Amino acid sequence: MAGGEVEVVDLVKMFNEVTAVDGINLQMPAGEFFSMLGPSGCGKTTTLRMIAGFEQPTSGQILLDGRNMAFTPPHKRNVNMVFQNYALFPHLNVFDNIAFGLRRDKRPKAEIRRRVGEALELVQLTGMEKRKPGQMSGGQQQRVALARALVLQPAVLLLDEPLGALDAKLRKTLQIELKELQQQVGITFIYVTHDQEEALTMSDRIAVMSAGRVEQVGPPQHLYEEPTTTFVADFLGVSNLMTATARGESNGRCKVSLGEFALYAANGDVSTTGETRIVIRPERVRLEAHGTSGENRIPGMVERVVYLGNGNQIIVGLAHGERIQALVQNTGDELAYRQGDPVQAYMPAEALRVLTDTGTAPLEDDPRARPAVRPVEPIAEEASTPNVNV
Ligand SMILES: Nc1ncnc2c1ncn2[C@@H]1O[C@H](COP(=O)(O)OP(=O)(O)O)[C@@H](O)[C@H]1O
Ligand SMILES: [Mg+2]
Repeated sequence: MAGGEVEVVDLVKMFNEVTAVDGINLQMPAGEFFSMLGPSGCGKTTTLRMIAGFEQPTSGQILLDGRNMAFTPPHKRNVNMVFQNYALFPHLNVFDNIAFGLRRDKRPKAEIRRRVGEALELVQLTGMEKRKPGQMSGGQQQRVALARALVLQPAVLLLDEPLGALDAKLRKTLQIELKELQQQVGITFIYVTHDQEEALTMSDRIAVMSAGRVEQVGPPQHLYEEPTTTFVADFLGVSNLMTATARGESNGRCKVSLGEFALYAANGDVSTTGETRIVIRPERVRLEAHGTSGENRIPGMVERVVYLGNGNQIIVGLAHGERIQALVQNTGDELAYRQGDPVQAYMPAEALRVLTDTGTAPLEDDPRARPAVRPVEPIAEEASTPNVNV
């Protein structure tokens, strides 16, 4: 089916004095897998519900294929929504759950049978027609919910944390399936999640949201490699965020000082001056023997080594007072550094990024603010779930 382009313009939603959505602008071309990613309470569900038509905007516009939807009721919007808690009818079997919308639309019996069959095939549940939701696992129930939404052939499918209730392993399997399914049916998916790994895995593009606003929009790789704000750098993946003083630019690099040490940063807002924040990903920090000379090196001491299986996370206290973490891949060789060892942390200029804060990023007094070094616990599954602390 053609169409499925969604645009939201200056969208605002107030609930009395609470501003849930604070003026967002997004363009989602037809057929895109678009995710809205952000911590709990940042306005994701409210935005989705406005696109679905369950909620009226306080101001702003929602356009579907260029047409303003302000006065179009939900069932006439050619969009459909899948919820975290499945919302299946418990007394109806799988077939009847999926057929519900088609019967409401008074489709002929033969067509209903054919379309339900196709939808079941799409979600790999053929043969389960007679089961009741209570006789199925969470993953199967969510597939039924998906089939029920897809059977109506919407141009846009809205998904609100649909994998949120499932365990980590099943979630990973379904992430891949959902992405394949989206490519197969070719419709626009607008996917809401607070799980950065989920968004990175599935999306063509992601909007990172914070406090009712969009912080940054882009393809996963772009957001990970080129975050512009502290919030995005910190929310997506693991970041070493450091406070530095920018001393001006030369040759496309920004000279920054951290205490008595000077480094060069070659990415981001290199022309800034004064107090700023810089970021480097743990996998880009290289640890060397103490005393190794050369630019962009700060001496430090290994404070902790955390074995992660596929690598080691090494927490280093740097001489100027901040802590960073380095990720060292597990190559089978014995790790060269142990707790208490003096090291040299090499942070190449190409891997150091100067951030441009917009003011909506989590600064120290923001409840979402987190320390420069994340808690050391993250291991495998848990490491993939972002810290949602609001
Ligand atoms: N019906 C409502 N009445 C009052 N406040 C609401 C309502 N729905 C959402 N909110 C508030 O709006 C903000 C955004 O909520 P929501 O869109 O559900 O966030 P998210 O889905 O990102 O967790 C929150 O502060 C929430 O408490
Ligand atoms: Mg929500």
